[in-house]
Amino acid sequence: MKGIILAGGNGTRLAPMTSVVSKQLLPVYDKPMIYYPLSVLLLGRITEILVIARPQDLPLFKQLLGDGSRFGARLDYAAQDSPRGLADALILGREHVGDDDVALILGDNIFHGHDFGGIVTDAIKNNTGATLFGYEVSDPERYGVAALDRNGELVDVVEKPANPPGNLAITGFYLYTNEALDVAAGLAPSPRGELEITDVNKHFVDRGRARIVPLTGGFAWLDAGTAESYVDACNYVHAIETRQGRKIACPEEIAFDAGLIGPAELLEAAGQFGSSEYGQYLKRHAGRGAA
Ligand code: G1P
Repeated sequence: MKGIILAGGNGTRLAPMTSVVSKQLLPVYDKPMIYYPLSVLLLGRITEILVIARPQDLPLFKQLLGDGSRFGARLDYAAQDSPRGLADALILGREHVGDDDVALILGDNIFHGHDFGGIVTDAIKNNTGATLFGYEVSDPERYGVAALDRNGELVDVVEKPANPPGNLAITGFYLYTNEALDVAAGLAPSPRGELEITDVNKHFVDRGRARIVPLTGGFAWLDAGTAESYVDACNYVHAIETRQGRKIACPEEIAFDAGLIGPAELLEAAGQFGSSEYGQYLKRHAGRGAA
């Protein structure tokens, strides 16, 4: 399975924070926002990853993440010259994905919960069309929303409904079989002028080949779409990391624990961050050995 991180868009809701810096490069407490979705893909053992961003932001993403070898991954980059909607990522990503299946994740989505790597690898194994991840929220009208029948089966998906069919929001992490590329290529823009990922999802729902995996219990799903949710995300990461002494979404650590890089590479990565707390953390982790 190939991965795509969509880090495009103008971040208009976060202006002026995003007037000169891409939203997905803003720090969420102690690391750039894009580290969070990158970590999700690595937890799922997805290592061939395409980063899509605006042409003017691409050099900065490249400078930050490089060719991915620091994370035991291979990163490629593609420019999105205008924000045509989330499904456009599946069009821009065609060459990168080839004949493979694909995991798409939005560059501003933050996931944190017990054994998420296990949840993702199981979902990849069981995917027969589209696999979505659901999260119960108090404001479903801000998101894509899942409609379930009495047995908890997914029967519909609706984008930002005025009257939501429930509270289960569809998060910005999607697993698809290769067919999704053709579905995206055949989409017409929605009334708001975007190629909607919800229309791709609906294709699979209508054919009975979509599943939703609810992320429940102590799981956290945060987006950084508004100034308030952005600061909530920073505070969440700060609180958990300080309390536990473990980092959320540290891609070098995840790669090391997964055996994608060895202690020498982890130490080299640590060296790049000098005396920062992040660098010191990586150094300590290399000494501890893989978890
Ligand atoms: C997008 C999707 C929506 C999904 C959300 C998750 O909305 O259109 O279905 O629930 O991401 O973050 P946006 O944030 O682009 O408004």
